[in-house]
Amino acid sequence: MGKRSKSPGTGIRALFLDEQAQRTLRRFVADWVAPRWRQIALVFVFTSGLAATTGGYPLVIKHSFDSLMRTDSHVLPWVLIAIIAVTAARSTFLYLHQVTSARVIMRMVTDMQKAAFAHLIVSDFARLTRETTGRLVSRLTNDLAAIQQAIQTSMIAFVRDTLSVLAVLITMLWLDWMLTLIVFAVFPFAVLPMSSIGRRLRSVSRRTLSEIGDMTSRLTEVLAGVRLIKAFRLENYAIERLNGNFEQIYRLRMKAVRARGRMGPALEALAGIAIAGVVALAYWRIARGISTVGDFMGFVTALLLAAQPIKSLGMVTTSVIEGVAAAERIYELLDEKPTVVDRADARALVVRQGAIVFDDVGFAYATSAGSRAVENVSLTVPGGKTVALVGRSGAGKSTVINLVARLFDVDAGRILIDGQDLREVTLTSLRQAIAIVSQEVTLFDDTIRANIALGRLDASDDDIVAAAKAAAAHEFIVAQPLGYDTVIGDSGLRLSGGQRQRVALARAILKNAPILLLDEATSALDTESERLVQEALTRFTRDRTTLVIAHRLSTVQRADMICVMDQGHITEVGSHADLIARDGAYARLCRSQVLVDLETTPRSHAAE
Ligand SMILES: Nc1ncnc2c1ncn2[C@@H]1O[C@H](COP(=O)(O)OP(=O)(O)OP(=O)(O)O)[C@@H](O)[C@H]1O
Ligand SMILES: [Mg+2]
Repeated sequence: MGKRSKSPGTGIRALFLDEQAQRTLRRFVADWVAPRWRQIALVFVFTSGLAATTGGYPLVIKHSFDSLMRTDSHVLPWVLIAIIAVTAARSTFLYLHQVTSARVIMRMVTDMQKAAFAHLIVSDFARLTRETTGRLVSRLTNDLAAIQQAIQTSMIAFVRDTLSVLAVLITMLWLDWMLTLIVFAVFPFAVLPMSSIGRRLRSVSRRTLSEIGDMTSRLTEVLAGVRLIKAFRLENYAIERLNGNFEQIYRLRMKAVRARGRMGPALEALAGIAIAGVVALAYWRIARGISTVGDFMGFVTALLLAAQPIKSLGMVTTSVIEGVAAAERIYELLDEKPTVVDRADARALVVRQGAIVFDDVGFAYATSAGSRAVENVSLTVPGGKTVALVGRSGAGKSTVINLVARLFDVDAGRILIDGQDLREVTLTSLRQAIAIVSQEVTLFDDTIRANIALGRLDASDDDIVAAAKAAAAHEFIVAQPLGYDTVIGDSGLRLSGGQRQRVALARAILKNAPILLLDEATSALDTESERLVQEALTRFTRDRTTLVIAHRLSTVQRADMICVMDQGHITEVGSHADLIARDGAYARLCRSQVLVDLETTPRSHAAE
């Protein structure tokens, strides 16, 4: 921490929270609590009502007894009415207190959840892929649950205990203001032990949430990979992997329990100091005849009454600290600024021919140290033509497609579509102009129809069937138990690899975009289906700019132009005949079977 700011924090908060935690807390209050002050005030009102009616119980009991003892028939009806009234009022207040406090808390947490998810889903592709799915899921669920828990405990206790402390405090001041001041003078002594407990608890809470994120991540990973686990008999590996996480979470939780537990004794010790101070002063005063033992006794009683709520207020800070730790993680997420965003002066992309120009493009993934995925790539894809990208695995082909879709921004050079730099057009108009079938097919656990319709959400059923036919998918779809309404399972698990690819292709066709990017879109198809799909695609891509990545000679040969990539560079460009004649890298790829001839090799990329 740098120099101390001029406001070291106010009141009791300063005792337990360091500056950073206080900043988070203030921000949290301003963002989420303050806008709901009316509802919170209402909770306060109902809680006070609850407290007041609870306090009314002993009175009612006393009067009932009195009237019973006196067998006073005059008073009895009033007593009965009072009993019913107090009970009814109390249960009404109890209900209102529960509902209003739950509503305000749930509302806060739900709003936070919405904000965090909305922020996350519009953030960079790079950001979303940096953290595992499980960790992201955990941030949006477990972290928020921790915040909810913290608000719940602290709000309820805070409202209840503040009221009691205030009441007792007034009594104490009224009895003896000087002794009261002495009692409160000891608070500063608590700063050191408590803030150290607070710091420790906060760090443990953060580590716990992070570990829970890891656990969720591994759990989802392992459960998504059950096919592998079963096939390779990796059950024990999975169990060991997860047990490590479970144990670690157990250890961290115990650490938190111990830190939390230390808060009690620390406050108890504090109370000891206060009482000692009070006794000393009282002794001095009594010895001098300024006050009586009775005064002293009355005050000590009030002090003991105050001790319990003060102690539980102290314990509330532990919930606050744990909530702050979770809030910090949510703010970390909310504070990340996406880099792939529309510029202030971004215009809509206007596609005329759909020519794509790569002008000395370079790019390195943030996570890969040093090595650049793409370097010095200059290429012109003429509008309406098909260009095939070929090359060894890891050559940078998929990266090129990612860059055209602007999933990442180039870090050198530029990419133009019909003369417009991708970074100067709006993302919406760019993505509108592009249909993409990526190397890993993404399908949701929904019907086949819904999965295809993701290409264009307002498409009619006829459009969907036409797209499925164009992707040679219609036949297998109608053969499914419920046809287009068949639900295909998690990630489309109930379809074969080739079927999944054709659904993804139908989706891209349905989008009817002027630019088509196909990353091994037909790699899992058998010869016959591939031939059908290729024929349909040839018709479909006639006037569209198409970038196609393929390992199959039959696909590559159809392209107007072939572009060979190696280690991020473009090494050769030309037609099939040109490149064979040149007898360079392309000819070598053909010979080495990196490009496979389907007529001789029936099934190259078998789906697992
Ligand atoms: N998300 C990523 N983060 C870091 N590095 C990556 C990422 N994706 C790809 N790379 C690296 O970038 C390089 C190019 O990868 P790319 O996916 O473009 O290859 P490719 O030509 O499509 O290969 P393949 O034919 O196997 O699909 C590789 O060295 C790869 O390790
Ligand atoms: Mg690839």
